[in-house]
Amino acid sequence: MPVVYLTRRAVFSASHRLHSNQLSEDENRQLFGKCNHPRGHGHNYAIEVTVRGGIDPRTGIVMNLTELKAAIEETVMRSMDHRNLNLDVPQFQDLNPTAENIAVVCWQMLEDHLPEGLLHEVVIRETENNFVRYRGE
Ligand code: NI
Repeated sequence: MPVVYLTRRAVFSASHRLHSNQLSEDENRQLFGKCNHPRGHGHNYAIEVTVRGGIDPRTGIVMNLTELKAAIEETVMRSMDHRNLNLDVPQFQDLNPTAENIAVVCWQMLEDHLPEGLLHEVVIRETENNFVRYRGE
């Protein structure tokens, strides 16, 4: 059975402040610069969710794209779109909402909403030039 990678993309807007509770105020300012500004700043994020699986010979698909879209809507979009990530998303109460950590949190949210073993990769695009890939490692 041929194995293929199927990707669905969604975009969301959110604000955040890069700040680690494990660094001093000075260290945070030095490391994160303007991204450490106390009142935060916004991004138009894109998420790309890839599932990996065999093509079902009966249907010709890996999984129903409507279900993949719904899984993204019910998890990532519902909790992060038009939100302040630091204040509105419980997972970031004590976790710095970097693109890296956003990718991991999105993975964790999606995992439970997709058929077991299908989730392959989450990509978070934070700017035109910066993006993060996470594969559950
Ligand atoms: Ni930022």
